Amino acid sequence: MSLLFLRRAADIRSQVVALAAQGRRLALVPTMGCLHEGHLALVEAARAKAEVVALSIFVNPLQFGPQEDFSRYPRQLEEDFRLCEKAGVDWLYAPEEEQLYPPGFQTYVSCEALSQPLCGQSRPMHFRGVATVVCKLFALFRPCWAMFGEKDFQQLCLVRAMSRDLDLGVEVVGIPIVRAEDGLALSSRNVLLSAAEREQATALFRVLLCARQRYGEGERLASVLLEEARQHLFQAGIRVDYIDIVDEATLQPIEYIEAQGARMLVAGFVGSTRLIDNMALEGA
Ligand code: PAJ
Repeated sequence: MSLLFLRRAADIRSQVVALAAQGRRLALVPTMGCLHEGHLALVEAARAKAEVVALSIFVNPLQFGPQEDFSRYPRQLEEDFRLCEKAGVDWLYAPEEEQLYPPGFQTYVSCEALSQPLCGQSRPMHFRGVATVVCKLFALFRPCWAMFGEKDFQQLCLVRAMSRDLDLGVEVVGIPIVRAEDGLALSSRNVLLSAAEREQATALFRVLLCARQRYGEGERLASVLLEEARQHLFQAGIRVDYIDIVDEATLQPIEYIEAQGARMLVAGFVGSTRLIDNMALEGA
């Protein structure tokens, strides 16, 4: 089946109604475009679950702060359409800003505790923007499943909580991080890096790997692991936004790592590009 471009809310609604009448189920993959293998892993997981896969492309202004890279965010719609077709996406939705936020728009969704720590500290309105747009996409598409990457671990936790708290009935599926051969987590923002910065950026992955190894050897003090990581990042020339070891369920910091479910999360600036990454301290 070829790619169906959905443009208006009314078109989506009639397709969704028709699908339900046929007893076929939908999985949604929300993205901001500039698609890469990370996004395509979400599509593949969606195809394994659902009869129909919808992918949205929308660089959501609501989740960017005034000093952030909204205008600089990479966009490549034509190439994205081609990739979607090749990956077996069935429905594509790439709305204009006015479609999702028409004049008079004034209703927002905010998750409370989960949006406070980590990225929430330096990006105070970010998760309100994410939750609002994802809630709108869930309302438009009524999917059975929505696929989210662990790359944005805080976002995944928050969207899961939102779906549960607001009874949206969407099962939020987390997909492991897809990395380049040298370990750098794939990200649309990687195209903004110079060759030297691209090399520098691998330090993010290396400090996570190192922390996991030190944990495996028996180190249990988060403060020790974090200090070592900070040193490495400093040496690599990465300006740290935050680095923390938190409980995966609550995203609250852990001092002494006793049980499973501890994850290290890092955000840092490589040049002027802000990148994030994370890793569970236990497991493969
Ligand atoms: P975007 O950064 O385009 O990412 C879309 C989805 O792809 C997210 O769920 C993200 O976690 C996942 N993803 C990105 N890189 C990945 C990688 N290397 N491995 C696995 N998954 C990866 O995240 C957003 O867009 C937006 O905030 C959005 C949810 C679309 C709301 O606007």
